[in-house]
Amino acid sequence: MTEPDSLATTRAAYDAVAADYARDVPERYHSSPLAHAMIPVFAELVRAGGGGPVADVGCGPGHVTAHLSSLGVPAYGVDVSPEMIALARSAHPGLRFDVGTMTPLTADDATLAGVVANYSIIHTPPERPPETFAEFHRVLRPGGHLLLGFQADDDPTRLGAPFDHSVTAAHRYSPDRIAELLLDTGLPEVARLIIAPGEDTKRGFPQAYLLARRPVGEQPA
Ligand SMILES: C[S@@+](CC[C@H](N)C(=O)[O-])C[C@H]1O[C@@H](n2cnc3c(N)ncnc32)[C@H](O)[C@@H]1O
Repeated sequence: MTEPDSLATTRAAYDAVAADYARDVPERYHSSPLAHAMIPVFAELVRAGGGGPVADVGCGPGHVTAHLSSLGVPAYGVDVSPEMIALARSAHPGLRFDVGTMTPLTADDATLAGVVANYSIIHTPPERPPETFAEFHRVLRPGGHLLLGFQADDDPTRLGAPFDHSVTAAHRYSPDRIAELLLDTGLPEVARLIIAPGEDTKRGFPQAYLLARRPVGEQPA
C-alpha cells in the first residue's frame, strides 16, 4: 500500500517541531483542568469494563499515554513521527511507544479495551474519517471505548473546515457530524464535552471530546 502524501507531510512537519512541542504542550495539558478532564473518566470506564490495553493514537511526546498509565490503564503510544516517538520514549522510559500509523494500526481485531486520539484526527484529510473510524472499530473489543479530542466546527453540513494550524494541514470537525460517522461505523456516542470558544485564547475555537463505545454484545466479524 502506498502512503498518502498527507501522511509524509504530517510526519516531516511534526519531526521538525517535536522538541518544541514536547517542551510546551504536555505542560499546558497538565495545567489546564479542561484539557485533561476526560482522561480520568475514560480510564475509569476502561477499568470498569475489565481493563486491557489502550492505544494512544497520534500520541506525540506521550504525555496522555503516561497520564493513562498513571491511572492504572496499560496504555501504549503510536505516532507517525519518529522524533515524537524518540521524545516520548525518553520522557517515559517504562512505557511502550511505536512509530506507526492510525490506518492501519498494528493491533489485532477486537483486542483493545480503548483507543484515544487526542488532537490527531485533525490531521486526517476530510475524505478519510470514515476509514479511520472503521480501523478504530476493528481493533476495539466489544465494550471497548474510543475517546476523540479535536478542534470543533459548528457546521454539521460540511466534513472538515481547514484552519491555520501552526504545524501542518488540519481540519476542524463538527461533533454532530463526527458522532454520526462514528454511529455509522458501529461506535455509538456515550458522552461529549464541548469547551466554549472563549476558553481558546489563541483561535477562539470550541474544543470537543467525544466518547463512543463498541456495543458490549457485538460479536467481532
Ligand atoms: C496535534 S499533535 C497531538 C499529540 C498528542 N496526542 C497531544 O495530545 O498533544 C498530532 C499528532 O498526531 C500525529 N499523527 C497525525 N496523523 C497521524 C497518523 N495518520 N498516524 C499516526 N500519527 C499521526 C502527529 O505526528 C502528531 O504527533
